[in-house]
Amino acid sequence: MDINTLEDEVFALSSSSGKKYNLPEIKGTLGPKGIDIRKLYAESDLVAYDPGLGNTGSCESKITFIDGDKGVLLYRGYPIEQLSENASFPEISYLLLNGELPTEGQLATFDGQLKSHTMLHEQIRNFFNGFRRDAHPMAMLCGTVGGLSAFYHDRLDISKAEDRELSALRLIAKMPTIAAWAHSYSQGYPFAYPRNDLGFSENFIHMLFSRPSENYKVNPVLARAMDRILILHADHEQNASTSTVRLAGSTGANPFACIASGIAALWGPAHGGANEAVLRMLGQIGDVKNIPAFIQKVKNKEDGVKLMGFGHRVYKNFDPRAKIMQRTCQEVLGELDIKHEPLLELAVELERIALADDYFVSRKLYPNVDFYSGIILKAMGIPTSMFTVLFAVARTGGWVAQWKEMIEQPGQRISRPRQIYIGAPKRDFVAINQRG
Ligand code: ACO
Repeated sequence: MDINTLEDEVFALSSSSGKKYNLPEIKGTLGPKGIDIRKLYAESDLVAYDPGLGNTGSCESKITFIDGDKGVLLYRGYPIEQLSENASFPEISYLLLNGELPTEGQLATFDGQLKSHTMLHEQIRNFFNGFRRDAHPMAMLCGTVGGLSAFYHDRLDISKAEDRELSALRLIAKMPTIAAWAHSYSQGYPFAYPRNDLGFSENFIHMLFSRPSENYKVNPVLARAMDRILILHADHEQNASTSTVRLAGSTGANPFACIASGIAALWGPAHGGANEAVLRMLGQIGDVKNIPAFIQKVKNKEDGVKLMGFGHRVYKNFDPRAKIMQRTCQEVLGELDIKHEPLLELAVELERIALADDYFVSRKLYPNVDFYSGIILKAMGIPTSMFTVLFAVARTGGWVAQWKEMIEQPGQRISRPRQIYIGAPKRDFVAINQRG
Protein backbone atom coordinates (compact mmCIF):
# COMPACT_ATOMS: atom_id res chain seq x y z
CA MET A 1 0.00 0.00 0.00
CA ASP A 2 1.23 3.53 -0.74
CA ILE A 3 -0.03 6.54 1.22
CA ASN A 4 -0.09 9.56 -1.12
CA THR A 5 -0.94 13.20 -0.71
CA LEU A 6 -2.25 15.36 -3.51
CA GLU A 7 -2.90 18.97 -2.54
CA ASP A 8 -5.21 18.53 0.46
CA GLU A 9 -6.24 14.98 -0.39
CA VAL A 10 -4.69 11.95 1.34
CA PHE A 11 -5.31 8.54 -0.14
CA ALA A 12 -4.08 4.96 -0.03
CA LEU A 13 -3.27 3.27 -3.31
CA SER A 14 -3.55 -0.53 -3.39
CA SER A 15 -0.68 -1.94 -5.45
CA SER A 16 -2.66 -5.15 -6.13
CA SER A 17 -5.95 -3.63 -7.35
CA GLY A 18 -4.70 -0.17 -8.33
CA LYS A 19 -7.74 1.24 -6.47
CA LYS A 20 -7.56 4.52 -4.62
CA TYR A 21 -9.08 5.02 -1.14
CA ASN A 22 -9.57 8.49 0.26
CA LEU A 23 -8.38 8.91 3.84
CA PRO A 24 -9.97 11.86 5.68
CA GLU A 25 -7.68 13.92 7.88
CA ILE A 26 -8.44 14.51 11.57
CA LYS A 27 -7.23 17.66 13.26
CA GLY A 28 -6.65 18.03 16.99
CA THR A 29 -6.11 21.23 18.99
CA LEU A 30 -2.32 20.79 19.02
CA GLY A 31 0.12 18.30 17.54
CA PRO A 32 0.14 16.29 14.33
CA LYS A 33 -2.92 15.72 12.18
CA GLY A 34 -4.25 12.17 11.90
CA ILE A 35 -5.27 10.10 8.89
CA ASP A 36 -8.58 8.37 9.52
CA ILE A 37 -8.14 4.78 8.33
CA ARG A 38 -11.10 3.32 10.21
CA LYS A 39 -12.97 2.29 7.08
CA LEU A 40 -9.91 1.25 5.05
CA TYR A 41 -10.01 -2.49 5.73
CA ALA A 42 -13.79 -2.68 5.31
CA GLU A 43 -13.47 -1.11 1.85
CA SER A 44 -10.16 -2.61 0.69
CA ASP A 45 -7.61 -5.37 1.28
CA LEU A 46 -5.38 -2.99 3.25
CA VAL A 47 -4.58 -2.60 6.95
CA ALA A 48 -2.14 -0.16 8.56
CA TYR A 49 1.13 -1.75 9.76
CA ASP A 50 2.74 -0.03 12.75
CA PRO A 51 4.45 -2.40 15.22
CA GLY A 52 5.16 -0.58 18.47
CA LEU A 53 2.32 1.79 17.53
CA GLY A 54 4.78 4.70 17.35
CA ASN A 55 2.85 6.26 14.49
CA THR A 56 -0.68 5.38 15.50
CA GLY A 57 -3.24 7.60 17.19
CA SER A 58 -5.24 5.04 19.15
CA CYS A 59 -7.85 7.48 20.51
CA GLU A 60 -8.97 11.09 20.76
CA SER A 61 -8.13 12.51 24.19
CA LYS A 62 -8.47 15.84 25.98
CA ILE A 63 -6.28 14.94 28.93
CA THR A 64 -2.55 15.27 28.22
CA PHE A 65 -0.49 16.75 25.40
CA ILE A 66 3.20 16.18 24.73
CA ASP A 67 5.36 17.88 22.14
CA GLY A 68 8.42 15.65 22.19
CA ASP A 69 10.51 17.88 19.93
CA LYS A 70 9.96 20.99 22.05
CA GLY A 71 9.98 19.27 25.46
CA VAL A 72 6.39 20.32 26.28
CA LEU A 73 4.06 18.46 28.64
CA LEU A 74 0.56 19.81 29.34
CA TYR A 75 -2.13 18.35 31.62
CA ARG A 76 -5.49 19.64 30.36
CA GLY A 77 -3.57 22.49 28.69
CA TYR A 78 -1.55 23.56 31.74
CA PRO A 79 2.28 23.28 31.54
CA ILE A 80 3.81 20.72 33.90
CA GLU A 81 6.31 23.33 35.18
CA GLN A 82 3.45 25.52 36.50
CA LEU A 83 1.45 22.63 37.89
CA SER A 84 4.36 21.03 39.73
CA GLU A 85 5.25 24.39 41.25
CA ASN A 86 1.77 25.50 42.35
CA ALA A 87 -0.61 22.56 42.73
CA SER A 88 -1.00 19.51 44.94
CA PHE A 89 -1.42 15.91 43.79
CA PRO A 90 -5.16 15.79 44.70
CA GLU A 91 -5.62 19.03 42.73
CA ILE A 92 -3.88 17.43 39.73
CA SER A 93 -5.99 14.27 40.08
CA TYR A 94 -9.13 16.45 40.06
CA LEU A 95 -7.86 18.29 36.98
CA LEU A 96 -7.07 15.08 35.10
CA LEU A 97 -10.43 13.54 35.98
CA ASN A 98 -12.67 16.57 35.50
CA GLY A 99 -10.90 18.72 32.93
CA GLU A 100 -10.67 21.94 34.97
CA LEU A 101 -8.70 23.11 37.99
CA PRO A 102 -10.93 22.91 41.08
CA THR A 103 -12.15 25.94 42.99
CA GLU A 104 -11.27 25.99 46.71
CA GLY A 105 -14.67 24.49 47.52
CA GLN A 106 -14.42 21.79 44.86
CA LEU A 107 -10.93 20.84 46.04
CA ALA A 108 -12.07 20.64 49.68
CA THR A 109 -14.94 18.35 48.65
CA PHE A 110 -12.68 16.19 46.46
CA ASP A 111 -10.05 15.97 49.20
CA GLY A 112 -12.75 14.94 51.68
CA GLN A 113 -14.02 12.29 49.27
CA LEU A 114 -10.51 10.90 48.81
CA LYS A 115 -10.00 10.84 52.57
CA SER A 116 -13.19 8.86 53.07
CA HIS A 117 -11.70 6.08 50.94
CA THR A 118 -8.11 5.81 52.24
CA MET A 119 -8.86 2.75 54.40
CA LEU A 120 -8.82 -0.78 53.03
CA HIS A 121 -11.34 -3.45 53.95
CA GLU A 122 -9.73 -5.14 56.95
CA GLN A 123 -9.76 -8.53 55.22
CA ILE A 124 -7.44 -7.13 52.56
CA ARG A 125 -4.69 -7.34 55.19
CA ASN A 126 -4.90 -11.12 54.74
CA PHE A 127 -3.81 -10.78 51.12
CA PHE A 128 -0.39 -9.64 52.24
CA ASN A 129 0.14 -12.64 54.51
CA GLY A 130 -0.33 -14.84 51.45
CA PHE A 131 2.79 -13.42 49.82
CA ARG A 132 6.31 -14.62 50.53
CA ARG A 133 8.20 -12.11 52.68
CA ASP A 134 10.66 -11.48 49.81
CA ALA A 135 7.91 -10.88 47.22
CA HIS A 136 8.50 -7.85 45.01
CA PRO A 137 6.17 -5.02 46.17
CA MET A 138 4.99 -4.62 42.54
CA ALA A 139 3.75 -8.22 42.65
CA MET A 140 1.83 -7.41 45.86
CA LEU A 141 0.46 -4.19 44.36
CA CYS A 142 -0.64 -5.86 41.14
CA GLY A 143 -2.35 -8.75 42.97
CA THR A 144 -3.98 -6.61 45.66
CA VAL A 145 -5.34 -3.97 43.26
CA GLY A 146 -6.83 -6.71 41.08
CA GLY A 147 -8.31 -8.17 44.26
CA LEU A 148 -10.09 -4.90 45.13
CA SER A 149 -12.82 -5.86 42.67
CA ALA A 150 -13.67 -8.74 45.03
CA PHE A 151 -14.32 -6.21 47.84
CA TYR A 152 -15.78 -3.16 46.15
CA HIS A 153 -18.18 -4.81 43.71
CA ASP A 154 -21.19 -3.14 45.34
CA ARG A 155 -20.92 -0.18 42.96
CA LEU A 156 -19.16 -1.48 39.87
CA ASP A 157 -21.71 -0.80 37.17
CA ILE A 158 -19.48 1.04 34.72
CA SER A 159 -22.47 2.24 32.69
CA LYS A 160 -23.37 4.51 35.68
CA ALA A 161 -21.46 7.80 36.03
CA GLU A 162 -21.68 7.66 39.88
CA ASP A 163 -20.11 4.19 39.95
CA ARG A 164 -17.33 5.23 37.59
CA GLU A 165 -16.56 8.24 39.77
CA LEU A 166 -16.64 6.22 42.97
CA SER A 167 -14.26 3.60 41.54
CA ALA A 168 -11.88 6.35 40.41
CA LEU A 169 -11.88 7.90 43.90
CA ARG A 170 -11.42 4.53 45.59
CA LEU A 171 -8.45 3.71 43.37
CA ILE A 172 -6.64 7.04 43.84
CA ALA A 173 -7.29 7.01 47.62
CA LYS A 174 -6.43 3.38 48.37
CA MET A 175 -3.32 3.08 46.23
CA PRO A 176 -0.96 4.75 48.79
CA THR A 177 -2.30 2.49 51.54
CA ILE A 178 -1.68 -0.66 49.47
CA ALA A 179 1.75 0.60 48.40
CA ALA A 180 2.79 1.44 51.97
CA TRP A 181 1.55 -1.90 53.28
CA ALA A 182 3.47 -3.76 50.56
CA HIS A 183 6.56 -1.89 51.77
CA SER A 184 5.86 -2.62 55.46
CA TYR A 185 5.21 -6.29 54.74
CA SER A 186 8.48 -6.75 52.88
CA GLN A 187 10.39 -5.00 55.70
CA GLY A 188 8.59 -6.85 58.50
CA TYR A 189 7.02 -3.71 60.00
CA PRO A 190 3.43 -3.45 61.26
CA PHE A 191 1.00 -1.79 58.87
CA ALA A 192 0.31 1.89 59.56
CA TYR A 193 -3.28 2.98 59.02
CA PRO A 194 -4.05 6.15 57.04
CA ARG A 195 -4.26 9.45 58.91
CA ASN A 196 -6.87 11.68 57.35
CA ASP A 197 -5.65 14.75 59.24
CA LEU A 198 -2.64 14.73 56.91
CA GLY A 199 -2.38 15.76 53.27
CA PHE A 200 -2.19 13.09 50.54
CA SER A 201 1.62 12.90 50.29
CA GLU A 202 2.20 13.50 54.01
CA ASN A 203 -0.11 10.61 54.78
CA PHE A 204 1.67 8.42 52.26
CA ILE A 205 5.04 9.15 53.89
CA HIS A 206 3.49 8.55 57.31
CA MET A 207 2.21 5.11 56.23
CA LEU A 208 5.60 4.24 54.72
CA PHE A 209 7.74 5.22 57.69
CA SER A 210 5.83 5.67 60.96
CA ARG A 211 6.16 2.96 63.59
CA PRO A 212 3.83 2.45 66.58
CA SER A 213 6.82 2.67 68.94
CA GLU A 214 7.65 6.28 68.18
CA ASN A 215 6.18 9.63 67.31
CA TYR A 216 6.78 10.20 63.63
CA LYS A 217 6.69 13.70 62.21
CA VAL A 218 6.58 14.06 58.44
CA ASN A 219 9.24 16.40 57.07
CA PRO A 220 7.35 19.04 55.00
CA VAL A 221 10.19 19.33 52.43
CA LEU A 222 10.05 15.59 51.82
CA ALA A 223 6.23 15.69 51.65
CA ARG A 224 6.46 18.43 49.02
CA ALA A 225 9.09 16.43 47.08
CA MET A 226 6.84 13.37 47.18
CA ASP A 227 3.90 15.46 45.96
CA ARG A 228 6.02 16.75 43.09
CA ILE A 229 7.17 13.25 42.14
CA LEU A 230 3.52 12.13 42.10
CA ILE A 231 2.50 15.14 39.97
CA LEU A 232 5.31 14.60 37.46
CA HIS A 233 4.34 10.96 37.00
CA ALA A 234 0.56 11.45 37.08
CA ASP A 235 -0.12 11.15 33.36
CA HIS A 236 1.74 10.86 30.09
CA GLU A 237 -0.85 10.37 27.36
CA GLN A 238 -0.96 7.02 25.55
CA ASN A 239 2.14 5.33 27.02
CA ALA A 240 2.38 1.53 27.33
CA SER A 241 0.62 1.19 30.71
CA THR A 242 -2.12 3.72 29.90
CA SER A 243 -2.76 2.03 26.57
CA THR A 244 -2.95 -1.28 28.46
CA VAL A 245 -5.55 0.21 30.83
CA ARG A 246 -7.56 1.52 27.86
CA LEU A 247 -7.29 -1.79 25.99
CA ALA A 248 -8.42 -3.79 29.03
CA GLY A 249 -11.13 -1.21 29.76
CA SER A 250 -12.44 -1.40 26.20
CA THR A 251 -13.67 -4.94 26.94
CA GLY A 252 -15.90 -3.62 29.74
CA ALA A 253 -13.61 -5.10 32.44
CA ASN A 254 -14.01 -3.49 35.86
CA PRO A 255 -11.69 -0.55 36.69
CA PHE A 256 -9.79 -2.40 39.44
CA ALA A 257 -8.87 -5.16 36.97
CA CYS A 258 -7.95 -2.54 34.34
CA ILE A 259 -5.64 -0.66 36.70
CA ALA A 260 -4.04 -3.97 37.75
CA SER A 261 -3.24 -4.59 34.08
CA GLY A 262 -1.71 -1.11 33.86
CA ILE A 263 0.45 -1.89 36.91
CA ALA A 264 1.66 -5.08 35.18
CA ALA A 265 2.65 -3.11 32.07
CA LEU A 266 4.34 -0.42 34.15
CA TRP A 267 6.57 -2.99 35.83
CA GLY A 268 8.80 -3.50 32.77
CA PRO A 269 12.32 -1.96 32.81
CA ALA A 270 11.66 -0.08 29.56
CA HIS A 271 8.78 1.76 31.31
CA GLY A 272 8.19 2.23 35.04
CA GLY A 273 11.02 -0.07 36.07
CA ALA A 274 13.58 2.36 34.65
CA ASN A 275 14.33 4.36 37.84
CA GLU A 276 15.06 1.10 39.65
CA ALA A 277 17.31 0.14 36.71
CA VAL A 278 19.09 3.53 36.88
CA LEU A 279 20.17 2.91 40.48
CA ARG A 280 21.28 -0.63 39.65
CA MET A 281 23.28 0.75 36.72
CA LEU A 282 24.90 3.48 38.86
CA GLY A 283 25.77 0.83 41.47
CA GLN A 284 27.38 -1.35 38.80
CA ILE A 285 29.41 1.54 37.37
CA GLY A 286 30.54 2.21 40.93
CA ASP A 287 33.03 4.98 40.25
CA VAL A 288 33.40 7.99 37.97
CA LYS A 289 36.58 6.46 36.51
CA ASN A 290 34.53 3.54 35.13
CA ILE A 291 32.13 5.77 33.15
CA PRO A 292 34.08 5.83 29.83
CA ALA A 293 34.26 2.02 29.73
CA PHE A 294 30.54 1.80 30.52
CA ILE A 295 29.64 4.33 27.83
CA GLN A 296 31.71 2.35 25.33
CA LYS A 297 29.80 -0.80 26.27
CA VAL A 298 26.51 1.02 25.67
CA LYS A 299 27.69 2.34 22.31
CA ASN A 300 28.86 -1.13 21.27
CA LYS A 301 25.43 -2.41 22.34
CA GLU A 302 27.26 -5.14 24.27
CA ASP A 303 24.75 -7.59 25.78
CA GLY A 304 22.00 -5.05 25.05
CA VAL A 305 23.40 -2.66 27.71
CA LYS A 306 21.58 0.69 27.65
CA LEU A 307 22.11 3.92 29.47
CA MET A 308 19.09 3.63 31.74
CA GLY A 309 17.15 6.83 32.39
CA PHE A 310 18.13 8.08 28.95
CA GLY A 311 15.97 8.19 25.85
CA HIS A 312 12.26 8.36 25.40
CA ARG A 313 9.85 7.21 22.75
CA VAL A 314 8.27 10.66 22.53
CA TYR A 315 10.76 13.23 23.89
CA LYS A 316 13.46 13.77 21.29
CA ASN A 317 14.76 17.02 22.75
CA PHE A 318 14.51 16.98 26.54
CA ASP A 319 12.07 15.60 29.06
CA PRO A 320 10.67 18.65 30.95
CA ARG A 321 10.07 16.43 33.97
CA ALA A 322 13.79 15.57 34.19
CA LYS A 323 14.70 19.23 34.82
CA ILE A 324 12.15 19.57 37.65
CA MET A 325 13.31 16.25 39.06
CA GLN A 326 16.95 17.35 39.07
CA ARG A 327 16.00 20.51 41.02
CA THR A 328 13.89 18.50 43.46
CA CYS A 329 16.82 16.13 43.92
CA GLN A 330 19.04 19.01 45.03
CA GLU A 331 16.31 20.31 47.40
CA VAL A 332 15.91 16.91 49.06
CA LEU A 333 19.64 16.30 49.43
CA GLY A 334 19.99 19.82 50.86
CA GLU A 335 17.19 19.26 53.37
CA LEU A 336 18.66 15.95 54.47
CA ASP A 337 22.09 17.58 54.69
CA ILE A 338 23.58 15.04 52.32
CA LYS A 339 26.62 16.91 51.10
CA HIS A 340 28.26 14.03 49.35
CA GLU A 341 26.05 11.56 47.51
CA PRO A 342 28.27 9.37 45.32
CA LEU A 343 25.35 8.22 43.17
CA LEU A 344 24.34 11.79 42.39
CA GLU A 345 27.92 12.69 41.51
CA LEU A 346 28.07 9.65 39.23
CA ALA A 347 24.74 10.55 37.60
CA VAL A 348 25.79 14.16 36.97
CA GLU A 349 29.08 13.06 35.40
CA LEU A 350 27.38 10.34 33.34
CA GLU A 351 24.88 12.89 32.03
CA ARG A 352 27.67 15.34 31.19
CA ILE A 353 29.66 12.74 29.26
CA ALA A 354 26.62 11.32 27.44
CA LEU A 355 25.33 14.74 26.38
CA ALA A 356 28.68 15.48 24.76
CA ASP A 357 28.85 12.16 22.92
CA ASP A 358 27.72 11.92 19.32
CA TYR A 359 26.13 8.48 19.87
CA PHE A 360 23.53 10.01 22.22
CA VAL A 361 23.26 13.41 20.54
CA SER A 362 22.66 11.99 17.05
CA ARG A 363 19.98 9.64 18.38
CA LYS A 364 18.36 12.45 20.38
CA LEU A 365 18.81 10.61 23.68
CA TYR A 366 18.41 12.89 26.72
CA PRO A 367 17.82 12.19 30.42
CA ASN A 368 14.22 11.22 31.12
CA VAL A 369 12.18 11.66 34.32
CA ASP A 370 13.70 8.54 35.84
CA PHE A 371 17.33 9.57 35.64
CA TYR A 372 17.13 11.57 38.89
CA SER A 373 13.98 10.29 40.60
CA GLY A 374 15.73 7.16 41.94
CA ILE A 375 18.37 9.25 43.71
CA ILE A 376 15.68 11.34 45.44
CA LEU A 377 13.75 8.30 46.53
CA LYS A 378 16.87 6.57 47.81
CA ALA A 379 17.78 9.69 49.84
CA MET A 380 14.25 9.65 51.31
CA GLY A 381 14.86 6.09 52.54
CA ILE A 382 12.65 4.35 50.02
CA PRO A 383 14.08 1.00 48.89
CA THR A 384 14.74 0.48 45.19
CA SER A 385 12.08 -2.20 44.87
CA MET A 386 9.45 0.42 45.85
CA PHE A 387 10.30 2.90 43.07
CA THR A 388 7.93 1.54 40.46
CA VAL A 389 5.26 1.17 43.14
CA LEU A 390 5.43 4.92 43.77
CA PHE A 391 5.18 5.52 40.06
CA ALA A 392 2.01 3.40 40.01
CA VAL A 393 0.51 5.41 42.91
CA ALA A 394 1.06 8.56 40.85
CA ARG A 395 -0.03 7.18 37.50
CA THR A 396 -3.32 5.94 38.98
CA GLY A 397 -4.53 9.57 38.69
CA GLY A 398 -3.91 9.45 34.94
CA TRP A 399 -5.04 5.87 34.42
CA VAL A 400 -8.47 6.42 35.97
CA ALA A 401 -8.93 9.67 34.03
CA GLN A 402 -8.00 7.96 30.75
CA TRP A 403 -10.19 4.94 31.55
CA LYS A 404 -13.15 7.20 32.36
CA GLU A 405 -12.66 9.28 29.23
CA MET A 406 -12.59 6.12 27.10
CA ILE A 407 -15.74 4.63 28.63
CA GLU A 408 -17.56 7.95 28.20
CA GLN A 409 -16.58 8.38 24.53
CA PRO A 410 -19.59 7.94 22.22
CA GLY A 411 -19.28 4.84 20.03
CA GLN A 412 -16.63 3.30 22.31
CA ARG A 413 -15.92 -0.30 21.28
CA ILE A 414 -13.51 -3.10 22.06
CA SER A 415 -9.91 -2.51 20.91
CA ARG A 416 -8.81 -5.22 18.56
CA PRO A 417 -5.68 -4.63 16.46
CA ARG A 418 -5.07 -6.60 13.30
CA GLN A 419 -1.85 -8.20 12.06
CA ILE A 420 0.14 -8.99 8.97
CA TYR A 421 0.29 -12.78 9.06
CA ILE A 422 3.73 -14.15 8.10
CA GLY A 423 3.24 -17.80 9.15
CA ALA A 424 2.76 -20.91 7.04
CA PRO A 425 0.04 -20.81 4.39
CA LYS A 426 -2.93 -23.18 4.81
CA ARG A 427 -1.75 -26.81 4.84
CA ASP A 428 -3.20 -30.22 5.68
CA PHE A 429 -2.76 -31.99 9.02
CA VAL A 430 -0.04 -34.70 8.99
CA ALA A 431 -0.54 -37.85 11.10
CA ILE A 432 2.10 -38.19 13.86
CA ASN A 433 3.66 -41.34 12.37
CA GLN A 434 4.14 -39.61 9.02
CA ARG A 435 5.93 -36.51 10.35
CA GLY A 436 9.61 -35.84 10.29
N1 ACO B 1 20.93 3.80 25.78
C1 ACO B 1 21.59 3.52 24.64
N2 ACO B 1 21.04 3.52 23.42
C2 ACO B 1 19.73 3.81 23.35
C3 ACO B 1 18.97 4.13 24.49
C4 ACO B 1 19.61 4.12 25.75
N3 ACO B 1 18.94 4.40 26.87
N4 ACO B 1 17.69 4.38 24.12
C5 ACO B 1 17.66 4.23 22.79
N5 ACO B 1 18.89 3.89 22.31
C6 ACO B 1 19.29 3.70 20.92
C7 ACO B 1 18.67 2.45 20.31
O1 ACO B 1 19.52 1.33 20.50
C8 ACO B 1 18.56 2.87 18.87
O2 ACO B 1 19.84 2.80 18.29
P1 ACO B 1 20.03 2.46 16.71
O3 ACO B 1 19.41 3.60 15.98
O4 ACO B 1 21.50 2.34 16.53
O5 ACO B 1 19.31 1.16 16.50
C9 ACO B 1 18.19 4.35 18.94
O6 ACO B 1 18.74 4.80 20.19
C10 ACO B 1 16.70 4.61 18.89
O7 ACO B 1 16.11 3.91 19.96
P2 ACO B 1 14.67 3.23 19.92
O8 ACO B 1 14.80 1.85 20.46
O9 ACO B 1 14.02 3.42 18.59
O10 ACO B 1 13.91 4.13 20.95
P3 ACO B 1 12.49 3.83 21.48
O11 ACO B 1 11.73 5.08 21.29
O12 ACO B 1 11.89 2.60 20.90
O13 ACO B 1 12.74 3.50 23.02
C11 ACO B 1 13.04 3.74 25.32
C12 ACO B 1 12.53 4.39 24.03
C13 ACO B 1 12.39 2.36 25.53
C14 ACO B 1 12.63 4.63 26.51
C15 ACO B 1 14.58 3.61 25.25
O14 ACO B 1 15.17 4.87 25.03
C16 ACO B 1 15.16 2.96 26.49
O15 ACO B 1 15.14 1.72 26.61
N6 ACO B 1 15.66 3.78 27.47
C17 ACO B 1 16.20 3.24 28.69
C18 ACO B 1 15.07 2.83 29.61
C19 ACO B 1 14.36 4.03 30.23
O16 ACO B 1 15.00 4.95 30.75
N7 ACO B 1 13.01 3.99 30.20
C20 ACO B 1 12.20 5.03 30.84
C21 ACO B 1 11.35 5.70 29.83
S1 ACO B 1 10.47 6.99 30.61
C22 ACO B 1 9.19 6.26 31.41
O17 ACO B 1 8.74 5.19 31.10
C23 ACO B 1 8.64 7.01 32.51
